[in-house]
Formats: sequence, C-alpha cells, structure tokens
Amino acid sequence: MALSLPDQTITSQPALPSESNDSEPNNAQRTTNNELAAHVLAGLTRQPRALSSMYFYDAVGSELFQQIMALPEYYPTRTEFGLLTRHRAAIAAALTSADGQPLHLLELGAGDGLKTKILLRELLAAGTDFTYAPVDISPTALEGLAASLRTELPALRVQPLVAEYTAALAGLRGQPGRKAVLFLGSNIGNFPPEARQQFLGALAAQLGPDDRLLFGFDLRKDPRQIRAAYDDGQGVTAAFNLNLLTRLNRELQADFDLAAWEHFADYDPQTGAMRSFLVSRRAQQVHIGALGRSFDVEAWEAIHTENSYKFSLPQIEQLAAAAGLRVLTAFEDEQQWFADVLLAPQP
Ligand code: AVI
Repeated sequence: MALSLPDQTITSQPALPSESNDSEPNNAQRTTNNELAAHVLAGLTRQPRALSSMYFYDAVGSELFQQIMALPEYYPTRTEFGLLTRHRAAIAAALTSADGQPLHLLELGAGDGLKTKILLRELLAAGTDFTYAPVDISPTALEGLAASLRTELPALRVQPLVAEYTAALAGLRGQPGRKAVLFLGSNIGNFPPEARQQFLGALAAQLGPDDRLLFGFDLRKDPRQIRAAYDDGQGVTAAFNLNLLTRLNRELQADFDLAAWEHFADYDPQTGAMRSFLVSRRAQQVHIGALGRSFDVEAWEAIHTENSYKFSLPQIEQLAAAAGLRVLTAFEDEQQWFADVLLAPQP
C-alpha cells in the first residue's frame, strides 16, 4: 500500500513497528535499500524536507522503541495496558459473537503480544471458540510470539501469518464466522490523515456486517504532557530520531555528521499533530553515496521525520463514519488518555 505523508508528495507507509524485542532485520529491512534510496531522494529533494518514520525501525531503532515504551514520560503503552486490563471482560464479550459463531481474531503488528495476551486469556477463560492470527512482516517476531503463546496459553489456536497488512486483510473474507481485527498501540496516529482514512476504508471493505475492529487511539490531552512523551529527559527519543541518520549513513553510504543535527518535537493542539524533526545546527553539505549526489542544507533547516496524531472521540466517530463504520464502544482508561475503540460496519 502506498501511503502519503501529510502535505507532501513522497509516498510510503508510515511506521508500524512491532512491540517486540526482535532485533534481527526483517524481510522488509533486508529488501528495501532501493526503496529507501528512492524515498530519501524524494524526501530530501522536496521542500520542506521530510522522511518517513517507517525507516526508524532497524535493529537499533526497534531496541530504542522498546526503551521508549518504558520511559516515565511515554504514557501510551502502559495506559493502554491498564485500560485493557480494566475492560478485558467487556472487550472479550464484545468481540465474541452472540450466536456462538467461531471468532477469527486477526492482529496487525502483533509484536510480542504483551497487551493482546490480556484479551486472549479472557477469551479462553470465557470458553470462546476462536483462532488467533497474529500478522507481522517479521518471521522472527512472529516465531517468538508463537513460542511464548505455546508455553503460556497452550490451549490457544494460533495461525501466525507472515504478511504485509494488505495481503493479510485480503485473506480475511474467506474466513468462516465472525472476523475481528485488532490494531492496538497508537500506530494509526503515525498515518497522515489521508492515508489513515484510506487504510480504514480498505479495512472496512473486507468486513461483513457482523465483523468488528478494535483500534487503539491516543487521545488529546494536556499539550505539555504529549510533547514531553516525545522529548524525554533521558534523550532516548532523540536517539531514536537521530538513529535514522545513522541508518542512512550505513545503508546508503551517507555522511551525516550526527553532532550537527538535533531532535526537535512539537505538538499542535489544534490539529492534534505531534511532529518530530531533525534540525541542522549549521549550514552543511550531506553526501549520499548510494544516490551519487550531495544535498546543501541551511543552518536550522529541518527534516520532518514523524507524525504521531492525537484524537478526540468526535473525530474518531467522523473517521469511522467516513470509512463506513460506526463506533460501538470507546474503552478508555480512567484519565481518558487513551481509547481502544470497538468499530462495526454501518448497518
Ligand atoms: C509506534 N508509534 C505508535 C510510536 C508513537 O507514539 O507514535 C512511535 C514513537 N515515536 C516516538 N516515540 C514513540
């Protein structure tokens, strides 16, 4: 699926990382050097400059993201974990078909399944007839998840699927019974608005009237709290952002001087856009060997590297309606910082 960055002409899918400890390069990372080169050429040629956050997740970037999820300032992961624990019985009941049809539970970007296991345990305890189909492009991440499920939940039927999301969704229609798709975390926030709507519409098109979606949305809140989550005191998020340049140095034979760049993150409370940038501290020239060309960068010029959108409930309802879906329930934590939203096709 080709998805566009906001207000930009370059196309690429936004970051959909696994919340796992997978440090081995996955298929996508092994095979995308040409794609990465094309992306960087387009992103550094255009003004204002931009690169996609999907390229954050090499082995080091994935490890840094693990560290981010444990930071005191980064509230989304533990907040969603708490809300799933709080509402697990209601969510499991809502995912289960009232007429006892088997449930095919597909999860996009399953990672280590830490949060999903809360729901899987609940469904098993309720005696639900279901199959869990985690989808990931990384065979290593999926094998790790399948192994941990075999040990921790031996009664669970698991059908791991190494696939791109679009391919996994295309296979959904053939499944008997109710289908439910999980897209937890706040990955949907990394999609630019147009791509987010396209993605939800494409997903909705695969669903029958009795099928369900459970999507994680980070909600709008104190702008200072949001900004702090993306500019932590220990500098882990800065290292995560700057690692993109290290990756380009290694994979595209670039010569970015990391000391000449800094992380900058800002939140716009009107649009809900949490945006991250790499800012050049001085005028400089960067050579990219794989492209056989150099780029002049002005002092304080910025490369936009990530969007992490935050949502209001009315906005989620609008997003759903435009995709032919309706909100059945928004499961929130006590502080209303995060919501896992249950969606169904419109009647
Ligand atoms: C993966 N994604 C949901 C994270 C987020 O919050 O947008 C990635 C991240 N970027 C900086 N910190 C975390």
